[in-house]
Amino acid sequence: MITVKPRFKNWTLFLESPDKTSLSWKTSRAISDRPAHAYAVDEDLFLSKAFSSSLHPSKIVPFFYRASGHFDREDITITTIITSNRFQVFARLVERYRGPISVTIHVNNDTTHILDLLDSLETLYTSSPQMSRFVDVHLVVDFFDRQFNTWRNIARLFARTDFVMMLDIDFYLCTDFRTAIRNSEPIMEKLREGRAALVIPAFEYTTHEEGADYSTFPKTKEALKTLVETKQIDMFHASWAPGHNSTDYERFYSASPGEVYQVTGYQSAYEPYVIFKADGPPWCDERFVGYGGNKAACLYEMYLSGISFYVLADHFLVHQNHAYEEAIRKNERKSNRKLYSDFKEETCLK
Ligand SMILES: *[C@@H]1O[C@H](CO)[C@@H](O)[C@H](O)[C@H]1NC(C)=O
Ligand SMILES: *[C@@H]1O[C@H](CO)[C@@H](O)[C@H](O)[C@H]1NC(C)=O
Repeated sequence: MITVKPRFKNWTLFLESPDKTSLSWKTSRAISDRPAHAYAVDEDLFLSKAFSSSLHPSKIVPFFYRASGHFDREDITITTIITSNRFQVFARLVERYRGPISVTIHVNNDTTHILDLLDSLETLYTSSPQMSRFVDVHLVVDFFDRQFNTWRNIARLFARTDFVMMLDIDFYLCTDFRTAIRNSEPIMEKLREGRAALVIPAFEYTTHEEGADYSTFPKTKEALKTLVETKQIDMFHASWAPGHNSTDYERFYSASPGEVYQVTGYQSAYEPYVIFKADGPPWCDERFVGYGGNKAACLYEMYLSGISFYVLADHFLVHQNHAYEEAIRKNERKSNRKLYSDFKEETCLK
């Protein structure tokens, strides 16, 4: 049974924060006999500083739903962001992964919309035991539609394990990279050191129709390679090569089982799906709003900070095709191209 916190029974109430969570810090006992939890910081104040380069006003509600599961610190939490029209594909990810997931859901601050969305979210969340066992849901309520990097940072900040994967919701997890990573001491050691980002290579079907039915997707590398040879599947976004080609797909195809190889041809548009240490690597720059460059900016800063990319050559993701909002994307990509080129210069100097 899932119980909804009473503060959320009346959906509109939480926006006004009737019972504020406060965070507290211990003080040194050596020079003081005051109680250990002496200093409390208001949650909203703290979050406004944590996300101070995001657009405001914005209301963040961490752990709107909190998973019942207890996660091993060394597990890998999938961090992702969704909007209400992607609930079904999200449910599929949860069923498939069966591991910790931290998701940020954006809610447009429009009263009727909020009520409908929270109702359908409740239906979604209570629909499967995996959902309430594995998924922590964080809400963002505001008028800004595509603050992707802020939403990514929220999902990462509230992830409850040491390692996270930054993933887009449309990808189908074809192989069990989670078990493979956790069973490999050398790979775990790389993650713990905080200087590695593990790449799970991404693919897509060359025709839109074939990529719509995940039940037919390849589950082994052999099956994938056959589909690549017959040109039914190709690297993800082959028409925009710099996005993924640093993964070096030829090397991936010819790698022997168990191989992990380092990316040697990094360039600044590279935006693979990666697993890394939650605490340490730089966070996503929140000034990127809308489509284009936002994820590449996260990875660029990681790269400059000294993180290396390693490809897990037994594993892969396949994109589940759906209709894009192409017109919006085009415009936002244009303005983000300019932002990204300024950002690269600035980050490099930093
Ligand atoms: C949401 O909308 C309400 C009503 O218009 C407004 O009072 C509130 O400040 C808004 N909050 C945010 C975070 O935009
Ligand atoms: C990736 O694509 C870009 C642009 O097409 C090209 O310049 C670059 O050499 C390619 N890199 C790799 C590793 O294939």
